[in-house]
Amino acid sequence: MFKKTLVSLVVSAGIVSSLNAETLKHDMNILATSLSSVQRAFLLNDREKSVRLLVNLKKNITHTLGSTKKVINLLPDKLKYKSRIAVNSGKMINQYIHQIDDIYADKSLTNIQAEMEAQDALLNIQVQCYKCHNLVRDWDKK
Ligand code: HEC
Repeated sequence: MFKKTLVSLVVSAGIVSSLNAETLKHDMNILATSLSSVQRAFLLNDREKSVRLLVNLKKNITHTLGSTKKVINLLPDKLKYKSRIAVNSGKMINQYIHQIDDIYADKSLTNIQAEMEAQDALLNIQVQCYKCHNLVRDWDKK
């Protein structure tokens, strides 16, 4: 009886962790698609499209990186000790997306000024994506 429970525990733990890996990949791919669609709208200088896609990016960022707990859960166990750096990346990404909101709401900026400031903030978001990835990955040197 005990043995059977133990086996099913181990099996279900295995399933849970592989599901998490799938969810992580899925959520990260959504983030990447969302970020590049905003980048494209910025490259087109399409303000209406940018504003609409930014709402989406913000939602996806909140979903995946919206809290310290969420960010720590993204990290594999052996990297949890580096979680402060990852948590900081998550925080910065959230700050930059709020900053973009403020820029668009700021009536004292001309459209082109707002656009340029938002472009900077979007680049900063990408820098933080890389920071966390460099923490969790190693280059496969061939
Ligand atoms: C807190 C850390 C962290 C931040 C911040 C972060 N990621 Fe990730 N990301 C991960 C982890 C962990 C993985 C999975 C491990 C791996 O692929 O090496 C991952 C994987 C990915 C993948 C590959 C998914 C796959 O199918 O293999 C993409 C694409 C991605 N992230 C996009 C982004 C984008 C875009 C941002 C910024 C908006 C971002 N990530 C920010 C931790 C982070």
